[in-house]
Amino acid sequence: MKTIIEPFRIKVVEPIRITDRATRAGVLSAADHNLFRVRAEDVTIDLLTDSGTAAMSAQQWSAMMQGDESYAGSRSFFRFEAVARDLTGFRHVIPVHQGRAAEKILFSIVGGAGKIVPNNSHFDTTRANIEYTGATALDLLIPEGKDPTALHPFKGNMDLEGLENVLRTHGRERVPLIMLTVTNNTGGGQPVSLENMRAVRAIASRHGVPLLLDACRFAENAYFIKLREPGQGGRAASDIARDMFRLADGCTMSAKKDGLVNIGGFLGLNDDDLAASARNLLILTEGFPTYGGLAARDLEAMAEGLGEVLHEDYLNYRFVSTAYLGQHLVEAGVPILLPVGGHAVYLDARRFVPHIHPEKFPAQSLACELYLEAGIRGVEIGSLMFGGKNPRTGAVRAPAMELVRLAIPRRVYTQSHIDYVIEAILEVHRNREAIRGLDLVWEAPFLRHFTARLRPA
Ligand code: F0G
Repeated sequence: MKTIIEPFRIKVVEPIRITDRATRAGVLSAADHNLFRVRAEDVTIDLLTDSGTAAMSAQQWSAMMQGDESYAGSRSFFRFEAVARDLTGFRHVIPVHQGRAAEKILFSIVGGAGKIVPNNSHFDTTRANIEYTGATALDLLIPEGKDPTALHPFKGNMDLEGLENVLRTHGRERVPLIMLTVTNNTGGGQPVSLENMRAVRAIASRHGVPLLLDACRFAENAYFIKLREPGQGGRAASDIARDMFRLADGCTMSAKKDGLVNIGGFLGLNDDDLAASARNLLILTEGFPTYGGLAARDLEAMAEGLGEVLHEDYLNYRFVSTAYLGQHLVEAGVPILLPVGGHAVYLDARRFVPHIHPEKFPAQSLACELYLEAGIRGVEIGSLMFGGKNPRTGAVRAPAMELVRLAIPRRVYTQSHIDYVIEAILEVHRNREAIRGLDLVWEAPFLRHFTARLRPA
């Protein structure tokens, strides 16, 4: 059959609210033009994030009933640990409540003033947790990854020459570890090839620096490798994922993405000393190492989800449905980041609303307009999220791109929801010249996009 269907049927439904334009205008202004400030019940289609928003399977829900809520030595922990170890190969699997908790623990140990942490592109929480310790978060993406129109199969790849230079100049005294984010969320959900990972691994080994994956979307990255990397097409996504993890010395993992859960994550490590320090901090901030800030039922759901996410029917449907959105926008001439990423379609605001001055938050303005038009909530990944000043050094930062991310929650929306999104974006595109920019009225020192207040310029 040519038609790719959702490989599930729906057992539980959740109503969504259809609002009118006047209501949405009121909501937007009460929220100071910050979509993080909008109540979810005022949103019709919520594409703010694919994180923690997945629909869980009947198997996950039933596994949750098996949760052993013992404080220490829970059976659920050992089940989860076995699954995560089998997948990643890491000796130590340290559960945390979400990805940034793993980042906070990791960089509290290896960060600090003078340290430099290279990545293909740091996600905002990773960057913030590094900078909070006084260290520098360095993005080293290949040039194609910064050009929204460049067609390259692995736009998440690390700039190998740049990495080699950083290590040659600063050495392992200043570079405590190298990270690779798979897929590269900030750069458009773009994958990293196995070939690039092997090359990064070789550089890391040569300089004696560990390599850690930011593995939130490991399954999507593995499927991209299967679809695009020469020689990988005949392999199972689960085998490719295992290869990816085995090139690294550890990972931070937000299971809220490819763990198919609403909360959860883990820190994976091979280094015994680092793991011991991490467990000490874990006890301080998250909880005992056999639950790490989670209920045991969450560990059960993660154990199940980490397997389900690698089912090829699921991955095929996920890729086809995300590409469907992208394809319809491209055909209508809407500028998006290409190729379409794994978990989201990214509108390219610099080309969508070129008349809005870069200092007037073009991507945020576009995101607000889409909400106003149809109650669709996306997220700005541009100058509001990544611009402003480094809170410690005061250096002014400029984002590489100005994007609105439409992230697709896993197993949540059907094709008719996506058709509605397409219709709304085409309407906004037709009327794009009327969209006005925004002024920033208030900002917090860290991660300002979550709480910023703006008003029409
Ligand atoms: N790394 C990446 C690449 C991420 O996308 C995220 C979260 C994190 C780390 C942090 O994980 O939220 O569990 O603490 N991304 C979400 C998003 C928030 O919307 O893309 P967390």
